[in-house]
Amino acid sequence: MSVKKISKIQPGTFKFSKDNLKESEHEINKYPKTRQASAVIALLYLAQKQNDNWIPLSAIKYVAKKLEMPYIKVYEVSTFYSMFNLSPVGKYFVQVCTTTPCMIRGAKKIVDVCKKNISKNENELSSNKLCSWVEVECLGACVNAPMMQINYDYYEDLDDKKAESIIQNILEDKKVNSGSTKNRKSSAPEKGRITLINTKNA
Ligand code: FES
Repeated sequence: MSVKKISKIQPGTFKFSKDNLKESEHEINKYPKTRQASAVIALLYLAQKQNDNWIPLSAIKYVAKKLEMPYIKVYEVSTFYSMFNLSPVGKYFVQVCTTTPCMIRGAKKIVDVCKKNISKNENELSSNKLCSWVEVECLGACVNAPMMQINYDYYEDLDDKKAESIIQNILEDKKVNSGSTKNRKSSAPEKGRITLINTKNA
């Protein structure tokens, strides 16, 4: 997203809600008094949760002040970790894994589906402002590749048609079942378990 577009959507001020203020104190108190900067990731995460899953610059300044850290240091942390979003992500935030196992099983086609249905570029809201997408590194579900994460849920064993159907549903604000599209349980074989079948809870 261009700097001009980002500056347009930045709220002027930010402060923690009453609950998050309490939670932030709890996080800060986990560390010795001279080491309160160690709570920076926890506080940024709280700020992101409070602000519809993205962190405005005013929140970065707020966290820096609260932890008595230079603004640039908190900015560095927030730009280093891909879990922090620095522009609005919409109600549905789609993260497409494009690391090798997903890529060799068709992740590029899922990226194309996102470009076609959500927005031409990553980190841009769809025209109805409900959704955005981004490419990410391995999300740890390689065995059910290719996959994508939408908010806190995983959608696995995808192909371009299945991914498109999921995305069209969320763009209409409809609920979509998460998990494997082949109805696999976790990473079990498609036709059910074939080993340890006599072992309970295996
Ligand atoms: S490579 Fe895609 S989840 Fe690991």
